[in-house]
Amino acid sequence: MPALSVLLSVALAISGFVEALPPRIGTPHVSTPSNGTGAATSGDASSKRSTHPGTASLTQVRNPNFVPNGPLALAKVYSKYGLPLPPDLQDLINRIYQQLRQKRSTGSVVTTPQQYDVEYLTPVTIGTPGQNLEIDIDTGSSDFWVFSSETPKSQVDGQTCYNPNKSSTAKKLEGATWEIEYGDGSSSSGDVYLDKVKMGGVNFSSQAVEVASKVSAEFTADTNNDGLMGLAFGSINQVRPQKQTTFFENLQSSLDKPLFTADLKSGAPGHFNFGYIDKNAYTGSITYTPVNSTQGFWMWTSPGYTIGASGKFKSSPIEGIADTGTTLLLLPSSVVKAYYKNVSGASYQSSNGGYVFPCDATLPSFYVSVGDDARIKIPGKYMSYAPVDSQGQNCFGGLQTDDGIGFSIFGDVFLKAAFVVFDAGKERLGLAAKKLS
Ligand SMILES: *[C@@H]1O[C@H](CO)[C@@H](O)[C@H](O)[C@H]1NC(C)=O
Ligand SMILES: *[C@@H]1O[C@H](CO)[C@@H](O)[C@H](O)[C@H]1NC(C)=O
Ligand SMILES: *[C@@H]1O[C@H](CO)[C@@H](O)[C@H](O)[C@H]1NC(C)=O
Ligand SMILES: *[C@@H]1O[C@H](CO)[C@@H](O)[C@H](O)[C@H]1NC(C)=O
Ligand SMILES: *[C@@H]1O[C@H](CO)[C@@H](O)[C@H](O)[C@H]1NC(C)=O
Repeated sequence: MPALSVLLSVALAISGFVEALPPRIGTPHVSTPSNGTGAATSGDASSKRSTHPGTASLTQVRNPNFVPNGPLALAKVYSKYGLPLPPDLQDLINRIYQQLRQKRSTGSVVTTPQQYDVEYLTPVTIGTPGQNLEIDIDTGSSDFWVFSSETPKSQVDGQTCYNPNKSSTAKKLEGATWEIEYGDGSSSSGDVYLDKVKMGGVNFSSQAVEVASKVSAEFTADTNNDGLMGLAFGSINQVRPQKQTTFFENLQSSLDKPLFTADLKSGAPGHFNFGYIDKNAYTGSITYTPVNSTQGFWMWTSPGYTIGASGKFKSSPIEGIADTGTTLLLLPSSVVKAYYKNVSGASYQSSNGGYVFPCDATLPSFYVSVGDDARIKIPGKYMSYAPVDSQGQNCFGGLQTDDGIGFSIFGDVFLKAAFVVFDAGKERLGLAAKKLS
């Protein structure tokens, strides 16, 4: 059973080491609750209000400067859940770190291969007057922490920092501290303020904002990301001595419905909506499945899977969490093996710490069952994450094993293929198909 301390990414961040300072995210979009006619409008999180009290919608913007790295994405998961890296992966990560250190010390700019994107950032406004930050919404953790005026300048590289001293509504939460640990042993930490937080037209006036007085180099290198907002359950919040509730938990009673939805898109901005279900965001009907929040996660059980459109359903209960903060889909090794048997040239490569295949391989679609008779189709093209070589010959799979984690992780590779309802009122997860691009 993994330690439940919230452990954050090495991967997204260290990928960033090799880059010159990227520009900030341009014009984030915020839209009003849409019934298909509401056009998204441009502006910051604070400038547009939902037309419908008790509901909110916001558009995510993908980070166009993120360079994908399969092994690092996989390592990120282990760090996040406080697990030792499998030896193959550890070796590889050590080599990558070493390379990055060398590159940094000479200050040379590395030519990066084609740039993809998997990190989703969302505009959030904190304080009075509002300070606008770009935040990574993570349904797999429960802390809201930000770069701040207490973060040493040497640890800030273009991030927007929240300054509680410049907010008339900020109040120090006396004695409260937080700490996030990383797989490599480093950590971030700080203290806590209560302040007004607004996102996509909803707000809460005394949200615990965990202010960083120290961030590790990995976060410094993730230059567009000003912080994280965890939307799992408050039971795994890391503030001490008193755990704090999440933004969504605080909002819950004021929302029309005690739920939020995630509509992540492949290669395009998606939406998080609060308090309502946009009927135009999905096709068919929503299938609900119970959530077990005992471990603080949006944990549910899929009854099984199917490989390929004409494949046979394989009954095999898969217990896992819906985690927007994890890029890949991580399933039991038996499932992963079965899938890659159907991909010609695919193999587990210890040098890459995961399954790799020729980038031009035909990838069968993969179906995850929900409840008795529904399933979510993940198109074959989603099952390839990114090239592992600069020639783009071999690709790292979007599906990898969950070995050692203790449960599966339904990360973005899966979530992008579905419309997902996080229903706290009924402790259940709703999944529906949607139009995919
Ligand atoms: C939904 O669409 C109709 C037109 O089809 C429009 O009159 C109505 O205002 C819309 N409602 C919302 C909440 O956008
Ligand atoms: C706010 O200002 C005080 C006094 O100048 C300073 O000690 C403190 O570190 C500041 N807090 C933050 C979060 O910047
Ligand atoms: C904050 O939310 C409340 C509902 O909880 C709403 O009445 C108020 O107008 C909102 N204020 C702002 C500035 O968004
Ligand atoms: C929920 O999860 C906990 C721990 O993971 C487990 O002990 C418990 O049996 C689960 N409850 C249900 C109803 O499955
Ligand atoms: C997967 O492989 C099995 C066994 O070789 C084969 O019967 C099946 O048709 C393949 N399915 C797909 C979708 O390629």
